[in-house]
Amino acid sequence: MLVRTALEALAQRPIPFLRSAWPWRSLAYLLAGAVPGLPVLGVVAAVAVTSSPAVLAAGVAVAALITPMAGRYERWRLRLVDGVPLPAGDTASRGRREEGRVVALGGLALLVLWWMDLVMAAFGAAGPVLLILSPAVQPEVEPVAAVAASAAGVLLVPVAAYTLTAWAGARGAMTRAILAPQATELAEVLRSRARLVDAFETERRRIERDLHDGAQQRLVALTMTLGMARLDLPEDSPAARAVERAHGEAKQALAELRALVRGVHSQVLTDRGLPAAVRDVAGRSPVPVEVDLALEERLPAAVEVTAYYVVTEALANVARHSGASAARVTGGAADGTLLLEIHDDGRGGADPRRGTGLTGLADRLSVVGGRLSLSSPAGGPTRMRVEIPCAS
Ligand SMILES: Nc1ncnc2c1ncn2[C@@H]1O[C@H](COP(=O)(O)OP(=O)(O)OP(=O)(O)O)[C@@H](O)[C@H]1O
Ligand SMILES: [Mg+2]
Repeated sequence: MLVRTALEALAQRPIPFLRSAWPWRSLAYLLAGAVPGLPVLGVVAAVAVTSSPAVLAAGVAVAALITPMAGRYERWRLRLVDGVPLPAGDTASRGRREEGRVVALGGLALLVLWWMDLVMAAFGAAGPVLLILSPAVQPEVEPVAAVAASAAGVLLVPVAAYTLTAWAGARGAMTRAILAPQATELAEVLRSRARLVDAFETERRRIERDLHDGAQQRLVALTMTLGMARLDLPEDSPAARAVERAHGEAKQALAELRALVRGVHSQVLTDRGLPAAVRDVAGRSPVPVEVDLALEERLPAAVEVTAYYVVTEALANVARHSGASAARVTGGAADGTLLLEIHDDGRGGADPRRGTGLTGLADRLSVVGGRLSLSSPAGGPTRMRVEIPCAS
């Protein structure tokens, strides 16, 4: 059996466990846990001796300074009882969260963990050691009694080994839980969402191509044929009027289909980038939309497509629900983040629970690590703000 942690070691059979290095590693781990207590004791002693507020303030400052160090020390010594590597932070924001967790762990280590480790190490190890040494430590006791105490101490060694390993294993598990809470689970959820969105994108492109190459071309041909047929018919005849109507409807169907294809995918976005595509959508909105969006360079495709969906859905909502007289799209990229704001002066009351559009946007955004915030009090105005990390 491959044993990687102190807790796993406890599940071994007694003899291999007692002969392994795990009890010793656990003892070393607990003793090493007392190290962060040294500066704490130093500060407490200095404050007690001088009872000066200045020393107290300096002590608090020292504690604040060494907290991150104590956290990093805790992470480092975890390897004594836990050989499973901690998941590495692979994005800047995750790195920052990790730093926060290290600081929190450092604070805990300085306040409570160090003396708990020390007390457990002392109780676990000192009992048997003192008993074993009793002939030497207590010369006044009868030799027979002292030897009996020694023997009892030897018998207690396995008990101490289990106690120390169990406590050290639990402490290690706690450190791991603080440093890497469910990281693997989260990553898997994100990956499966990303797969879903990829599958959706592929299907979307197929529908777009089919519509464009198939139905749209046929409708163009039909419209032209009807137009020519009408020219061949005598004016004012019932047949001419019917063909005229059919021609009009075919043109209408073509216009709707074009709009549908454009809605499914924007050629402008692929060819000319986000600001042009946003201006294109804004230009087709029935509510006047002012656009103030400039980017120095093209963004990664996933970011552009997501941002484009945000703007189309937001402007569709403005047109359908807001009753606004004007709307505005502003934004730009700075510090590796694309920021977009869509503002309308309508009646407000946007509520993600009442439709699928806004929750769909939040899902899409979570896949690219983005964030959506919405402010829409009853009576308006409505403001939607979106941030997407876009460092390429
Ligand atoms: N700009 C807005 N102004 C006022 N109300 C809004 C605005 N945007 C959304 N809403 C309200 O919030 C609800 C939820 O919007 P959402 O986009 O999620 O769904 P929807 O537009 O109704 O349907 P769809 O799933 O087709 O998008 C809407 O039904 C509407 O009542
Ligand atoms: Mg909607």
